[in-house]
Amino acid sequence: MPMLLNASDYRSRARQFLPRGLFEYIDRGSEDETALARLRGSLDAITLLPAVLTGRDRCDLDTVLFGRRIAAPLIVAPTALAGLVSHDGETKLARAASRIGIPVCISTQSVTSIEAIRRGAPDALLWFQLYVWRDRALTARLLERASACGCDNLLVTVDTPVSPNREYNERNGFGIPFKPRLRSMIDVALHPGWLFGVLAHYLMGEGVPTYGHYPEAFRTAITRADIAEAVRIEPHLSWDDMRWLREIWPGKLTIKGVLAVDDAERAAGIGADGIVVSVHGGRNLDCLPPPADCIPAIVAAVKGRLTILADSGVRRGTDVLKYLALGAEAVLLGRLPLWGLAAGGEQGAEAVLRMVLREMETGMAFLGAHCVPALRNGRTSEQPN
Ligand SMILES: Cc1cc2nc3c(=O)[nH]c(=O)nc-3n(C[C@H](O)[C@H](O)[C@H](O)COP(=O)(O)O)c2cc1C
Repeated sequence: MPMLLNASDYRSRARQFLPRGLFEYIDRGSEDETALARLRGSLDAITLLPAVLTGRDRCDLDTVLFGRRIAAPLIVAPTALAGLVSHDGETKLARAASRIGIPVCISTQSVTSIEAIRRGAPDALLWFQLYVWRDRALTARLLERASACGCDNLLVTVDTPVSPNREYNERNGFGIPFKPRLRSMIDVALHPGWLFGVLAHYLMGEGVPTYGHYPEAFRTAITRADIAEAVRIEPHLSWDDMRWLREIWPGKLTIKGVLAVDDAERAAGIGADGIVVSVHGGRNLDCLPPPADCIPAIVAAVKGRLTILADSGVRRGTDVLKYLALGAEAVLLGRLPLWGLAAGGEQGAEAVLRMVLREMETGMAFLGAHCVPALRNGRTSEQPN
């Protein structure tokens, strides 16, 4: 691999490898992309105050999360269609995360099914992300499959009631259903590494890549015209649905996409184990406040009753440290592992995760924080203590 030293290098490499439609689907935000800019601004505005002369010579990233010890307070976030970035991309992400010793969360909208991912990554700490389908019986069956595969944490995504406005997808013809256009065909032809290494690999094996979890009867090749009504994402979710999930799901239950304190309180009230304070990577509503602005009040309200995770906008190990210093207990990474996957398959995904770990360790050494809990007591410019 060429010298890839930071997130920006991996992103550039991903941009070269992937067709533009797919790269922009991963990379960009929604509408005028102000949420993306606000995310970056919110993390850049935070400074961390070091403790000097601590006499420590190493820092430990070990973390206990949901009662389980993991190697670092990181999780590979659920990302739809990661299997289009590299052939069998979701399994590669799972193996990369497993080698690091952190969980990976598989999306409802993955290309590869949870059963095949489990077979390909037997030791992975698998979590499962749920988009609740309109047909609750099918949703319940999907959860039985995830549970049977040893997924011990269910992340229910509640911040996507409708399709976001992403005009570039429209222009690129990138969407579900995929609309082949001359422009997208030229785009694919100009990226022979992806054409032969990913698309042709599927076509010669499993066939046209599809959403791997959709039931056989409804399974939709991404080129097909519609997704059956039964497996549409439910637009009218309520707290009753969360109570229902709490009843039927045997493992940990985490609600992804919470920003308001009273919603965090309600999540605790229905017996959820955790929440993810997230703006979906700036990909959904363009006028949301950044998680960094929301975490402190949520921590003050529900710490100890819920495990508080955060994501969106992380491009450096120090961005992770900032979310941790604000009070998050672990941080999910979305685009970074995908760029690693695009740049170098499984090795690339692992390399990007190791890069983040190195950056975190360097930051912690400078901050005099020898372990993650010490960092949680860190101070930020916005939250002096
Ligand atoms: C290409 C892509 C697909 C995504 N698909 C899903 C998904 O299927 N379910 C979900 O809950 N979040 C999804 N997300 C959001 C991520 O889980 C995560 O919240 C976000 O990417 C974090 O921001 P970051 O990319 O800046 O790290 C997706 C993000 C990306 C970039």
